[in-house]
Amino acid sequence: MEKMKDIMKEKLLEIKEIALKNIEEVKSLEEFEQLRVKFLGKKGELTKVLRDMGKLIAEERPIVGQIANEIRDELENAIAEVGEKLNDELKRSKMNKEKLDITINTNEEIYGHRHPLLATVEELEDLFISMGFSVVIGPEIETVENNFDALNSPENHPSRDMSDTFYITEDILLRTHTSPVQIRAMKEMGAPLRIVSAGRTFRFDDVDDTHSPMFHQLEGLVVDENISMANLIHTLDIFIKELFGPDMKTRYRPHHFPFTEPSAEVDVTCLKCRGKGCEACNYTGWSMELLGCGMVHPKVLEYCGIDSEKYTGFAFGMGIDRITMVKYGIDDIRLLFENDSRFLEQF
Ligand code: PHE
Repeated sequence: MEKMKDIMKEKLLEIKEIALKNIEEVKSLEEFEQLRVKFLGKKGELTKVLRDMGKLIAEERPIVGQIANEIRDELENAIAEVGEKLNDELKRSKMNKEKLDITINTNEEIYGHRHPLLATVEELEDLFISMGFSVVIGPEIETVENNFDALNSPENHPSRDMSDTFYITEDILLRTHTSPVQIRAMKEMGAPLRIVSAGRTFRFDDVDDTHSPMFHQLEGLVVDENISMANLIHTLDIFIKELFGPDMKTRYRPHHFPFTEPSAEVDVTCLKCRGKGCEACNYTGWSMELLGCGMVHPKVLEYCGIDSEKYTGFAFGMGIDRITMVKYGIDDIRLLFENDSRFLEQF
């Protein structure tokens, strides 16, 4: 007859084997808990076997007891290990599901920012409105007639070239300046007239820090009786002082535009050094070519049906991008169009 000791030993080893196999296959925490109770619990398999210890003779008890203890230790370790593994997995999947971005400060309200270009346009328009001008708008897609012909631009003028202008058809183009709005305004409203118009303009330019094929201009036009160059200079001088400060000086250099006669380019005191001379102004003390202007050519008035014997006018145009850059100390025009929020947030 097999000895009780051997039966128990066999039983214990059998339990161990089954338990270890089951442990390996455990998939969920519930399964794990059931398994733990089944093998190690108070009413568990191991305890059941140990209850029969009483049936052993005294010398056999320590031997079986030792085996039982070893097996319990082994099972406890194995079970603890899977338990840890399962808990880790659960934690990880929970964390993945509930991922929080702790870098976002949710208490902070995020406000939109006015684009510096738009802020400049509005400031310019407000200034001219305060001087009695009306704000009008014109289309970005223009006729060749309004963009060139009506503005007295000669047939062979280089700016008409395909290499300078975006043509859509032979007669339609992306306006190269805001001056065609002058034509539209004079044709629609006649004289007297006092308007400004801001918007996008397009020229075939390679992109660099000061050039962009799309840029912005603001156009001004005054037509009335007895309008002279003095009115033009006075208006622009006041405008520049209002915009940049009372200490600003202007300088009118003779220039040529087909649609104005006489024409001038306006330089203003360098904003960086306030006229002292610095690298930005090539040590001249002047910001160059900030505006183009002149007395409206009689041919342009007549083209729009305005009596050039009775009426005269002045017009001016300026690059809004340039003014924005000077105003805010921006040194690369591309920043204005990339809409990088890190850039825009500064304004
Ligand atoms: N349209 C001219 C330009 O784009 C600027 C200008 C406008 C000059 C009005 C004179 C009068 O350069």
